[in-house]
Amino acid sequence: MSSPDHPHTDPALDPDDVPVNPSTEPSLDDLIARRCSRRALLRGALGALAAGPLAGLTAGAAEPQQPSAAVDNPTRFNFPEIARGVDATHHVAPGYSAEVLIRWGDPLLSGAPPFDPQRPSAAAQRRQFGYNNDFIGYIPLPLGSHNSEHGLLCVNHEYTNTELMFPGLAGAADPAAALTRAMVDTELAAHGGSMVEIRKTGGRWRPVPGSPFNRRIEALTTPIRLSGPAAGHPRLRTGADPSGRRVIGTLNNCAGGITPWGTYLMAEENFHLYFAGNLDGHPEERNYARCGMPAPRYAWARHHRRFDLNAEPNEANRFGWIVEVDPFAPQAMPVKRTALGRFKHEGAECIVNGDGRLVIYSGDDQRFEYLYKFVTDGTVTPLPDPTSSMDAQAYAGRIDASGRVHFHEQDLRQRVAAARAANRDLLDHGTLYVARLDADGGLQWLPLVHGQGPLTAANGFDAQADVLIETRRAATLLGATPMDRPEDVEPNPVTGKVYVSLTNNKHRGQDGYADTDAANPRAGNLWGQVLELTPTNGDHAADSARWDLLVRAGDPADPAVGAQWNPATSEHGWFACPDNCAVDPAGRLWVATDQGGGWPVTSGGADGVYALETQGPGRGTARAFFRVPVGAEMCGPRFTPDGRTLFVAVQHPAADGTGGYPGFERQSTFDDPATRWPDFTDGIPPRPAVVAITRDDGGEIGG
Ligand code: FEO
Ligand code: CA
Ligand code: CA
Ligand code: CA
Repeated sequence: MSSPDHPHTDPALDPDDVPVNPSTEPSLDDLIARRCSRRALLRGALGALAAGPLAGLTAGAAEPQQPSAAVDNPTRFNFPEIARGVDATHHVAPGYSAEVLIRWGDPLLSGAPPFDPQRPSAAAQRRQFGYNNDFIGYIPLPLGSHNSEHGLLCVNHEYTNTELMFPGLAGAADPAAALTRAMVDTELAAHGGSMVEIRKTGGRWRPVPGSPFNRRIEALTTPIRLSGPAAGHPRLRTGADPSGRRVIGTLNNCAGGITPWGTYLMAEENFHLYFAGNLDGHPEERNYARCGMPAPRYAWARHHRRFDLNAEPNEANRFGWIVEVDPFAPQAMPVKRTALGRFKHEGAECIVNGDGRLVIYSGDDQRFEYLYKFVTDGTVTPLPDPTSSMDAQAYAGRIDASGRVHFHEQDLRQRVAAARAANRDLLDHGTLYVARLDADGGLQWLPLVHGQGPLTAANGFDAQADVLIETRRAATLLGATPMDRPEDVEPNPVTGKVYVSLTNNKHRGQDGYADTDAANPRAGNLWGQVLELTPTNGDHAADSARWDLLVRAGDPADPAVGAQWNPATSEHGWFACPDNCAVDPAGRLWVATDQGGGWPVTSGGADGVYALETQGPGRGTARAFFRVPVGAEMCGPRFTPDGRTLFVAVQHPAADGTGGYPGFERQSTFDDPATRWPDFTDGIPPRPAVVAITRDDGGEIGG
């Protein structure tokens, strides 16, 4: 995320901008030695902003100029690039179509009223598609199949942009303080996630109205069970929940994952933004300070006691987890799986290891925080696959006109049920590891296990629950490597490699902060880098791996940036601030960017989706495929199993950096937004939305 609830014109407002890892502070000698050179570098970058918007930006909804010069293309991607730029709408490579599939406020559940932004209501919002779509998962229907024309979309709603969501806040000195209880409750109901049954007919994707799969998870009323080693621990107990096992809602669901058994993992990221209070003498003072609290960006504590750190001292320990949702058991509560640790989880992308265990990779998205993985103790029981010859027999003739499978076949039904039951609590038992990246390209996975090394009572860890509740502090004691904001971590099932988006870290190597290292090599790093991990012997569960820098992002034409790309990368193809990413069925990497309000400096253009070659002579070449309207960030990229559809999430259109948008140059509000994408209708505010991208000739995305 970038900067919820506040002006998006200054990247310094990003909640991830405030490092809270005390172990990364430099010595006095370091400070003196570094003071001059690094300051000069940062001044150079920021000077570009002070001088005004970069040349070549386009305002308004005019078509961007297409790149004219044909560049040598040594990659496996065969699409014409789009031009760098920024305007009121989205753009996709020629030969492709990008259609809005579902928007904030679209009715989702039965009885949902139509979108009415002038009269926000929590009751309506609970039945409508939520705000700020981020992660997108696609589960083919029927479950276990590879159907690429009928599936279940699982979409996270990370946060809300108060000033764009509600009318009448323009001019308020503190928009958050002007919020009524009804508005706050609407915000709570707009968080969480949505499950939407979708179908492709006549080449176009549409939600299935009234589908029994359609479902909302939100922060106002959804009960969620806590499970795993920390469930029930006294530090998770509250006045409303003396059991410490049942919490209302999930917050700041950024990226996530889909398990092989068809459940939906929602990662809780910047949960600290919702809590207010005073930590002086607080029983969780050290723990909460390490999470960046208090730094409230929302007015929720004024209306909901549980978001007051002093009134309900343990509530904030009940957020920052991975939530597992079973879309095929709508009556079952979602579950916060505490074995995966508590930190600002960016995502939870999974891969089945060669030995059958599940490995889940996750970044902790804050400057100088760490890279994690979780390895289950047990092995995954695979679902029957209706496209395999044996299973197809059982499925044949069992799919009704609406595409739903009837498990009349006793054997198949039993096998589906048995597989799902066997996997149900797999995520409660396993080992969480944090990464140490060494200068020689080696990576060690350090286990976060109570009683091992420094993780003992002497350091305040009385049980595994304490290690999990204070994962960050435990990881510091183990000697984990502080990274440049780990965002998505994506295993590639085709090659066995793993890609790590490190989005930026302007404080790296600056006064008062930790120095550069091999994997985080740039001081004042405004642009980020992508790492490639190679697990030892192809074993994702191994305690070691090799790491390599795939690209250093930013403008390769500016030597002060220190970017590193394959020279085949065009002037439009390079990007800044890698965030969510996806691997297509051919094993090719696609990267989405989130520059926040800093886009006029970091690239001079809007965020987007870029193809990034990882193999052969084109390794390290990026190509521009899609870009978002002004002020938005690019989230969600997710392919169907046939690679012929790419779903993307356009988050917070009109929000970020509109002060640097030529011709607009002010902060957006509900009444005065920089764009009204995607409706472009007077009185209708900009709306976060999921977009389905297909190739006009029906072929695979990217050629
Ligand atoms: Fe929600 Fe780290 O982006
Ligand atoms: Ca983001
Ligand atoms: Ca992200
Ligand atoms: Ca991803």
